Amino acid sequence: MAIRTEILSGPAGIRRGADILRGGGLVAFPTETVYGLGANALDPQAVARIFEAKGRPSDNPLIVHIAGVDEVGPLTGPLTADLAARLLALAARFWPGPLTMVLPRSPVIPDRVTAGLDTVAIRVPGHPAALELLRTAGLPVAAPSANLSGRPSPTRAEHVIEDLSGRVEAILDAGPTGIGLESTVLDLTAPVPTILRPGGVSREDLLPLLGEVAVGYRSDCPPRGASPDAGPGKGESPARSPGMKYLHYAPKAPLHLLEGPPAAVRQELLGEARRAAESGRRVGLLVPKEWEADFLFLPGVKVFSAGRAGDLADLAANLYARLRQFDQAGVDLVLAAGIEDEGLGAAIADRLRRAAGGRIRRID
Ligand code: TXA
Ligand code: MG
Repeated sequence: MAIRTEILSGPAGIRRGADILRGGGLVAFPTETVYGLGANALDPQAVARIFEAKGRPSDNPLIVHIAGVDEVGPLTGPLTADLAARLLALAARFWPGPLTMVLPRSPVIPDRVTAGLDTVAIRVPGHPAALELLRTAGLPVAAPSANLSGRPSPTRAEHVIEDLSGRVEAILDAGPTGIGLESTVLDLTAPVPTILRPGGVSREDLLPLLGEVAVGYRSDCPPRGASPDAGPGKGESPARSPGMKYLHYAPKAPLHLLEGPPAAVRQELLGEARRAAESGRRVGLLVPKEWEADFLFLPGVKVFSAGRAGDLADLAANLYARLRQFDQAGVDLVLAAGIEDEGLGAAIADRLRRAAGGRIRRID
């Protein structure tokens, strides 16, 4: 049955949200990356409701959000001196901020949160409303992105309302999020620190502190409709970041991603858009602002600027909103230009590849 969803804002809204969290309810709140859907991380029943509200598979663990590094202690198992030193150095440099650390787990963390893994993922979000909510609630808060499972993560309160109205107690609206892509998930329990999901903190940012950083994810997911078990997680035992095996971030229409040198990609996309438009299909394009004019006069073609070429922060901030706009525009095919895997570009390229679900072509 649908529940009434309160839309909250301002300091009174934060106090109300904190009360709801303490009472075992669900509150969606902004972070600097994307909106999260929070529940008391120490209450298995509250956490179970997150999975229900999102339609999320229960083998996909959640990130625990805290207000500061001094709250890590009770949530982890015993740390070696080496691991503790790494944790403190990373926290000093990147917290509050878009870095999630995977650490040995304390028994106080319910199995629902970690999906039965012996590790727990923790981060301090860099958004004033999130921090104030966490401080006021006085709880660690488990929160996945506040979208229905499989949809693009929400970067504005409207996206959360669209997906979760009637399914959660409250949505705290504090405007658009900053970075627009989820946090970097870094496994510190692996022999070499390993990036399980690229995000706002890049491998290049981490290297000076850690010396060595491994890449432990693959972005080429199976097409929509394929069983999640057919994803890259299959056969890898155990799947280290179970969430990464699912198709994510996808608009409803199939998205075709073209990667390669920008001039060649631009040329090829123009040809493909023309052919698709001639065959009567409604085509959406995700290309740099500078290319927009190429496509403006093609009938049936809608262009959504992905920001100025090379402005990765702008592209990241708007990517998920653009993917949702394709749904509203009712296109039946999306063509997107690829991004180089460097710095923040690695996270953008990863999300585009996941949204493409295997429909990726590389031209050289
Ligand atoms: O930016 C973010 O990280 C946002 C905001 C709300 O904080 N949260 C977010 O949560 O993106 P979610 O649930 O959509 O993604 C969490 C990712 C998943 O890929 C999950 O598999 C991984 O973190 N994860 C969580 N706990 C883990 C663990 N113990 N070991 C490995 N991976 C873990
Ligand atoms: Mg998510």
